[in-house]
Amino acid sequence: MGIETTFYDPMIGAGISNLIQDNTKIIFVEAPCSVTMEIQDIPAIAKAAHKHDVLVMMDNTWATPLHFKVFDHGVDVSIHAGTKYIVGHSDAMVGTVSTRAAHFEQLCNMSYQMGYCLSPDDAYLALRGLRTLKIRLKQHEANGLKIAKWLEGRPEVDHVRHPAFESCPGHEYWQRDFTGANGLFSFVLKQGHEAATTAMMEGMKYFKMGFSWGGYESLILTYHGIGRYRTATGWTATGPLVRLHVGLEDPDDLIADLENAFERFNQKI
Ligand SMILES: Cc1ncc(COP(=O)(O)O)c(C=O)c1O
Repeated sequence: MGIETTFYDPMIGAGISNLIQDNTKIIFVEAPCSVTMEIQDIPAIAKAAHKHDVLVMMDNTWATPLHFKVFDHGVDVSIHAGTKYIVGHSDAMVGTVSTRAAHFEQLCNMSYQMGYCLSPDDAYLALRGLRTLKIRLKQHEANGLKIAKWLEGRPEVDHVRHPAFESCPGHEYWQRDFTGANGLFSFVLKQGHEAATTAMMEGMKYFKMGFSWGGYESLILTYHGIGRYRTATGWTATGPLVRLHVGLEDPDDLIADLENAFERFNQKI
């Protein structure tokens, strides 16, 4: 479609001004960043964008509308994979887009022309999910924090990447701008080859392998060579990264599941 893209360091903040070019129309932000979990300084990016008449679109799926108020922080267009926490039960695919009044007509025209629509059954499932979103998020957050803290004490773990932890890049922006976390975070292992992480993943009792987080169930994925996906910044950690989505199961059962996983991992190392 003739669109050019420039990727940026998630910690760039106001420095994004230096990347804005004559043809820049939109800055697309996501906080925390996919998989590596850095929290961006969204108000600073929005201020720089607006100075140059550029719009800010944000994927706010992680925070949900409850934990980050996009329009109060300078964002112009808010996008959610409602598939995740809003639906909450991994049984429907839903997307939402909301805009400031100035852009709403353009959004309506575009979605009409592209034929975007949601089936009545999927809308029903999303509305049903919304009713319990707040309490589900609280439970995901509590379970996630318990497991993240436990992981910090494991000898195999180099560091945990959880926005509520001081060690997470951009933690200060999470504290300033967000009102909560949830069950999605990552941790980096000190070492590990694919055979070891495969042994870890296979045989999990509660954690399933899957990308689409935000449902009631726990998920696990491993990533090797994160640096390969990065162009704007480097990645210094050498061990693999594990992303968890901590679900609504009993966290002690999940810890026992991970304990067994580490045992399988250590046998292959
Ligand atoms: C932050 C984020 N946004 C959007 C998506 C896309 O979700 P969907 O495939 O339900 O549209 C995903 C994941 O799959 C995601 O992690």
